[in-house]
Amino acid sequence: MRSAIFFLSVASLVSATLTITQPSAAHWWVGQSLNTLAWDGSDPSQFSVFLANPDTSVLTSMLALESIVMTYQTSLTINPGNIKAATGYTLLLTNPLNSSDVYATSESFEIKPVGSTYPPQTTTGNTSTTATFNTSGTATGAGTAPSGTGSSSSGATATSSEKCLAMMMVLAVGGGLMAML
Ligand SMILES: *[C@@H]1O[C@H](CO)[C@@H](O)[C@H](O)[C@H]1NC(C)=O
Ligand SMILES: *[C@@H]1O[C@H](CO)[C@@H](O)[C@H](O)[C@H]1NC(C)=O
Ligand SMILES: *[C@@H]1O[C@H](CO)[C@@H](O)[C@H](O)[C@H]1NC(C)=O
Repeated sequence: MRSAIFFLSVASLVSATLTITQPSAAHWWVGQSLNTLAWDGSDPSQFSVFLANPDTSVLTSMLALESIVMTYQTSLTINPGNIKAATGYTLLLTNPLNSSDVYATSESFEIKPVGSTYPPQTTTGNTSTTATFNTSGTATGAGTAPSGTGSSSSGATATSSEKCLAMMMVLAVGGGLMAML
């Protein structure tokens, strides 16, 4: 029971926010190419995507990349178009009806010139999800262990009553023999 409550509270914490996992300092983008946007979380159910850079000589104002993205997708490929190669970019996930309402901001990341190599891909997101489900499953299994012990002790009781019955039969047979003599 305790583990079930713990699991629920963790799940609601995770779903209450969106976190951008890519791009990041380690996962740059490449100009005029398909790049990965990946996020964790499921609430709010949809958002818009903007590209920003504090340096106005790089990007004069926030650039809309996607107008509506469904959050359950968890990742998306985006071509940022003909954008200046530079560091210091961030991605913003915002309310689709109000871009001032920012749900999540990425780490500062670099957009490299067209033709640059992509960053190495990792699968950290999936590993953590599997671990969470398996942990709660193990906890439930441990809860049934005491009933197993209970049935083995009742087995011992049965054995001793069988012995008792056998003893009575020996006495009865003995009595019969005595009577015959
Ligand atoms: C847009 O979002 C901002 C930040 O949450 C808020 O202050 C503002 O009132 C919102 N504007 C509208 C029109 O809802
Ligand atoms: C996550 O897991 C699903 C199903 O196990 C798999 O199809 C998918 O490729 C995985 N994604 C990543 C990023 O590893
Ligand atoms: C643990 O993970 C395995 C492999 O992903 C899966 O088949 C199994 O159903 C999981 N166990 C529980 C209790 O969720």
